[in-house]
Amino acid sequence: MKRRQSFVATLVASVSAVALFGSVTGGSLWFPPAQAQEKKLVMGTSPDYPPYEFYDTSGGQEKIVGFDVDIANYIGEKLGYEIEISGMDFNGLIPALQAKRVDFVMAGMTPTEERKQNVDFSDIYFEAKNTIVAKKGSNFKTAADLSGKKVGVQLGTIQEGDAKDIAEKDTTVQVVSLNKVGEIVQEIKAGRIDAAIIEDTVAAGFTTSNPDLEFNVIPSEGPSGSAVAFPKGSDALVAEFNKVLAEMKESGELEKLVLKWFGEGVSQ
Ligand code: ARG
Repeated sequence: MKRRQSFVATLVASVSAVALFGSVTGGSLWFPPAQAQEKKLVMGTSPDYPPYEFYDTSGGQEKIVGFDVDIANYIGEKLGYEIEISGMDFNGLIPALQAKRVDFVMAGMTPTEERKQNVDFSDIYFEAKNTIVAKKGSNFKTAADLSGKKVGVQLGTIQEGDAKDIAEKDTTVQVVSLNKVGEIVQEIKAGRIDAAIIEDTVAAGFTTSNPDLEFNVIPSEGPSGSAVAFPKGSDALVAEFNKVLAEMKESGELEKLVLKWFGEGVSQ
């Protein structure tokens, strides 16, 4: 009996010691939350860019969805990472990588030489072309057609660079840089700007939902297409992503997602 009592006493003492210690440490030392052991990567994106990435509000809450999100989740699943998505303006994405606030960026981002000085890129996973979007009937087909016009572009994009190059040669062209592509589209509709330079698949979507607008593909030199961006020095992660991207191209998984988001007629 004596023995049993002391056993109970010891048990009570140790349980309360654990409870005390647990409360001091917030329980984390004894029972680490399962989540803390899972690998997680934060993806930065600029969700103003359907069908690459945009807010889906249909479920009553705002969720970032799109082509890039599906690719990221597929890669995450293959490599054993949970993917968390962080939305911000396009112009803030490279600074976010440099400050390591995000682990990678997928935002229809083109791997330019200038960006390569600050971030690492994966292989290109989707090609793109530039277009001029304007009110129906404008018929802007080349840079020369933009003479004397106000041209909208997204801040920090290659389209902004292209528009600035055009404006440098023809000083009657006025470049208007805005944070979100949707804002640019609204400015054209309101007649505050005459045109915008937007990439083909995005322009196709916006002109379908805004039948008062049209787009024409323009010849463009320089880099195009999308790649995943990482903080500088991410060689191991870049290699892991490239491996899955290559598998996705090989297996037809990527083509499946192209069809899902860009529809028939768009093939790489
Ligand atoms: N491809 C262009 C660039 O890299 C535009 C990308 C814009 N992306 C976005 N999610 N708004 O500059």
